[in-house]
Amino acid sequence: MTDARNELPTTDYDLLARQLEALLDTPDALTNSAQTCAFIMQSVPGLNWAGFYLHRQPETLVLGPFQGKPACNPIPFSKGVCGAAARSRETQRVADVHAVADHIACDADSRSELVIPILSGDRLWGVLDLDSPLPGRFDDQDQAGIEALMAIFAAHTDLSTL
Ligand code: SME
Repeated sequence: MTDARNELPTTDYDLLARQLEALLDTPDALTNSAQTCAFIMQSVPGLNWAGFYLHRQPETLVLGPFQGKPACNPIPFSKGVCGAAARSRETQRVADVHAVADHIACDADSRSELVIPILSGDRLWGVLDLDSPLPGRFDDQDQAGIEALMAIFAAHTDLSTL
């Protein structure tokens, strides 16, 4: 059997980091979150959804800028992979979403998921959610690479405004 993940082109996350640095030339959080998810969707192969959920209500994530199909909204901290990332403030990497009992299936095509919390000081600003139709799409290198992109996003963005 072919492992579709192994057929993806390698992603050069150092190059993507330099490109994202150049792209984020304003502190505006709406502009930067829209640009960043569009950039990731274009640059990282094998994704079917890339976007932000924002912590704009207590214990709740509200859908923000994204690329892909219309998605679930809102998501309570108590539910799903995004909720787990918001609660724990730790990256959630799920190789097979079918194995997660409370996974929120916005798109039946999604098979694996990477969710990265974004902090502004000691406050949770929101999460970046990436979905893939390929089981096991995300490995250690993808996680480290996307976490580095989120550090660049946070450093270039005024997270008090959105
Ligand atoms: N699957 C996510 C919900 C968000 S969508 O994938 C865009 C979750 O379980 O948190």
